[in-house]
Amino acid sequence: MTNKKILFVCLGNICRSPTAEAVFRKLCSGHIELKNSAIDSCGTTGFHQGQCSDPRSVSSALKRGYNLSLIRSRKISVENFRIFDYILAMDYSNLESLKDLAIMHNFPTNNIHLFLDFANQSNIKEVPDPYYGGDNGFDHVIDLIEDASKGLIDELLGKELKVKNRENLQ
Ligand code: 4NP
Repeated sequence: MTNKKILFVCLGNICRSPTAEAVFRKLCSGHIELKNSAIDSCGTTGFHQGQCSDPRSVSSALKRGYNLSLIRSRKISVENFRIFDYILAMDYSNLESLKDLAIMHNFPTNNIHLFLDFANQSNIKEVPDPYYGGDNGFDHVIDLIEDASKGLIDELLGKELKVKNRENLQ
């Protein structure tokens, strides 16, 4: 039984990280060993604080069986660095913001990774920001997130160590 705490982070917490939260939660629900995991998401900014996820993310996710309806956007809090075992950034910009904030508040950064470091099916390193793009960007986001979620689950279950990019660890 594992009871890890996992936080997904993007810029606005209305597109990518809420999708990751919902996908990962659903995929974890198929593993009894992961039922005590704590799964959350947030943004590096509070631009959309309190808002529902972007309707395009909500509908793309729903078509594939993932429910974002209960998620509300929030900005990361410094306390999150103490609580979460895995803090997973959607892109390099998020990663840098997170590491800067952690360092500024004297927290270690070895729990902060690029989420796609856990992916197996592609070598893409960033979940592209779909906010200003077309609708198919939202489906691509889900494809990438499903892939990385499966890799992360394998790691949590002790099957594989999937953090490929050791440069991210300090
Ligand atoms: P997210 O997407 O970081 O995946 O939630 C965005 C949401 C909002 C904005 C940018 C990206 N924005 O500029 O408001």
